Amino acid sequence: MKTALLGYGVVGSGVHALTKARPEHGVTIARVLVRRDIEAVRAIATRDFNEIVSDPSIETVVEVMGGEEPALSYVKAALRAKKNVVTANKLMLSLHYAELISLARENGVHLAFSAAVGGGIPWLTNLLRVARVDAVESLGGIMNGTTNFILTAMQQGGADFAETLAEAQRLGYAEADPTADIDGLDVRAKLALSCDVAFSQMADAAAVPALGIRHIAAADVALFQQLGLTCRLIGKAERTEAGVAAYVEPMLFAADAPEAGVNGTGNIISFHCTGLGAQSFFGLGAGQSPTASAVMQDLIDTSAGTTAFDLARCNGAFLTDASSARHAYYLRTTAELPAGLAVRPLGKTPAGNACITRPLPVSALHALVQDCLAADRSAFAAGLA
Ligand SMILES: NC(=O)c1ccc[n+]([C@@H]2O[C@H](COP(=O)([O-])OP(=O)(O)OC[C@H]3O[C@@H](n4cnc5c(N)ncnc54)[C@H](OP(=O)(O)O)[C@@H]3O)[C@@H](O)[C@H]2O)c1
Repeated sequence: MKTALLGYGVVGSGVHALTKARPEHGVTIARVLVRRDIEAVRAIATRDFNEIVSDPSIETVVEVMGGEEPALSYVKAALRAKKNVVTANKLMLSLHYAELISLARENGVHLAFSAAVGGGIPWLTNLLRVARVDAVESLGGIMNGTTNFILTAMQQGGADFAETLAEAQRLGYAEADPTADIDGLDVRAKLALSCDVAFSQMADAAAVPALGIRHIAAADVALFQQLGLTCRLIGKAERTEAGVAAYVEPMLFAADAPEAGVNGTGNIISFHCTGLGAQSFFGLGAGQSPTASAVMQDLIDTSAGTTAFDLARCNGAFLTDASSARHAYYLRTTAELPAGLAVRPLGKTPAGNACITRPLPVSALHALVQDCLAADRSAFAAGLA
């Protein structure tokens, strides 16, 4: 299968190496779109996407540039030109899922994206398979290695957030601009995409409420340890009476929960189905080899015409908001709280009073935290799992 790569960075170069190491699968990288000279692919490189999209011999395009544009325009053009597309781009997919699925359907080509959630963890493919024969009741877990590294290091070393983030950046686990990771936006994109495939619905990623870990303090982590709890950043979607509610927030787990045992850059993502029960998928959610491996799996399946990505299932219904899911929260702030909200005071920390709240709708708590942040720039909340 003659294939073109769009982008030759960490994932793109890994995919190229894997196709060469495994020639028996018949996937050949014939062209590579670059924006600077890269010696390793000079003979097949082009800076002009039109050379790729207008070449009838290229059957499949692998988009591993990242970002929303120009990736989106290139992917749409490739689908319109009746080329299969394999992509690892969770941001682009989570924002334009409906449109891209429709385009692939209309043009009778494959659109596969195993690597977009969990890197090399076979999460989306298994979620798709189980959703064919079972009802997914809930899904979610630790989907971001950067924030899991930070939370683990704070728990093990007692350092504050800023210091731990700087260490993660020094080690190459966090980007220079850490916003997408620490504010939960990366998890939000992955969660939306997981909802798209599990519930046959379109999740509007921008509408999924997300609380990150930017304001967690060493004093919070010390309190969690006293309570025997472990904090992890979680993306979660659950079927409720009103529909499917999806949200991203820090959550506190008891020591025997699987999430509490996932340390460093590890990921764990689980689903719970009516018939099958619970299954969890654990491993490294990023990195060159794992991610290239997932892209290669999609290429092999695309070549055989058998990807698990059953585009016909998606019915276009939208998720409800997160007001139908509810649970208690840890909340720490110097801001004044509504009467009756705190049911268990946890005392004073250097960053404000801490308490456990009564059970609240997720969207109400997220709105309350935004109100608290207006008065206290360090307010922090975490759900009780
Ligand atoms: N890395 C991972 O572990 C991982 C895991 C799961 C999913 N992903 C996803 O995979 C995608 C790629 O990630 P990555 O880590 O490989 O990123 P990366 O190392 O930054 O590579 C992206 C490459 O695309 C090139 N590029 C960007 N815009 C371009 C344009 N307009 N024309 C031509 N080339 C362009 C960049 O060129 P320059 O080199 O010139 O900047 C770079 O080589 C992203 O969507 C990411 O979210 C990555």
